[in-house]
Amino acid sequence: MRAQVGIVGAGPAGLMLSHLLHLRGIASVVVECRSREYVERRVRAGVLEQGSVDLLREAGLGERLTREGARHEGIELRFAGEAYRVPMTELTGRAITVYGQQEVVKDLVAARLSAGGEIVFEVDDVGLHGLDSESPLIRFRHHGREVKLRCDFVVGRDGSHGVSRGAVPDGVLTSYERSYPFAWLGVLAAAAPAVDELVYAHHERGFALYSLRSPEISRLYLQVDPAEKLEEWPDERIWSELGTRLETVPGGTVNTGPILEKSITPMRSVVVEPMQWRRLFLAGDAVHIVPPTGAKGMNLALADVALLGEAFADWYTYGRDGLLRDYSRTALRRVWRAQHFSWWMTSMLHRLDRHDPYEQQLQLSTLRYVASSRSYATSLAENYVGLPNV
Ligand code: FAD
Ligand code: PHB
Repeated sequence: MRAQVGIVGAGPAGLMLSHLLHLRGIASVVVECRSREYVERRVRAGVLEQGSVDLLREAGLGERLTREGARHEGIELRFAGEAYRVPMTELTGRAITVYGQQEVVKDLVAARLSAGGEIVFEVDDVGLHGLDSESPLIRFRHHGREVKLRCDFVVGRDGSHGVSRGAVPDGVLTSYERSYPFAWLGVLAAAAPAVDELVYAHHERGFALYSLRSPEISRLYLQVDPAEKLEEWPDERIWSELGTRLETVPGGTVNTGPILEKSITPMRSVVVEPMQWRRLFLAGDAVHIVPPTGAKGMNLALADVALLGEAFADWYTYGRDGLLRDYSRTALRRVWRAQHFSWWMTSMLHRLDRHDPYEQQLQLSTLRYVASSRSYATSLAENYVGLPNV
């Protein structure tokens, strides 16, 4: 097989890049180890920054997003028996849209396939070769057959457990990491949301988040210990704990219903630099992970590919390599801003240590400061909706 750009991973980042390249007349092939059904059903992120929505719309993917996505102009912080609304749009002029990551993936897969794009699902043994030559190779097995995909560039967007990062020789990449002593238990439930905006709750038993997907579907998260198993969390225990942490203000109820999906995700911050080596470009979770408290992961992945789409267009149209060479440096500015914001939100809202009342008082003071200072609230809001230039 032959493509101008070979892309590893059909998450939102890989699929979006393939689509953006197609719009600029550049041929790509995406290889993905899971099935189409699996990637279209994987429940994850839900918050799109204004910039991500604009990118999807400009790329012709706005139709269902506009119809089914919900524009939110604020979020609520709930702590110490109080509720405070951060009026994001009033403070920044921008908003977020709640639209499930799997819906973005479904729209992208449909757009690629209807344009004749090639996504090879269910591949095994993916290996990257000749990355320091002018025609690198992606090798993989597909239905038992050995396949070689020859390309001009390889783009690794195979998430945090992929192979791309490992294809770079030792000593080239620097990794910055932080792990947190907690995880998120996430549930998707067939229950009408009792809120119309997201609620981030600080509670002495741990953080909780009330989010939503549609008028019939709620998405909720609980801070748990990373060592806990799903079996230890039967549905009744989940609802009871969500009630304890969220029903702390008058009218602040949680609507219950059948739980459709649940999973536990450990929380980490990671940045790997640089995001390029020779003919390999890395993007999305393959090179940076944020704890989900700032709702930044999918947005960062989309911001990376917007840059790469422009850079490849410049290369193929005018033979200029400036944007490709600047890619890592430019992308990392946004990445580090999102790292700081996600770490800050995480540190402010989670129970860090059961026996550290000092930390807890600092958290409450920070929350009260956000609630009482327009400039502090604006800082939170502009990071949350996404800074256009960082
Ligand atoms: P992925 O979506 O991980 O895609 C990588 C793809 O590569 C996958 O399809 C995988 O199967 C494939 N792959 C892996 N290895 C190989 C291989 N060897 N060969 C071929 N294919 C391979 N982000 C937000 O912006 N907002 C939120 O509200 C938010 N909430 C989240 C909540 C949870 C519970 C979690 C877990 C994440 C959340 N995120 C959120 C983060 C967001 O989901 C990720 O940042 C996003 O999926 C990154 O996209 P990606 O394309 O880089 O990687
Ligand atoms: C979600 O709806 O899945 C969601 C919302 C906000 C976050 C994380 C996840 O910070």
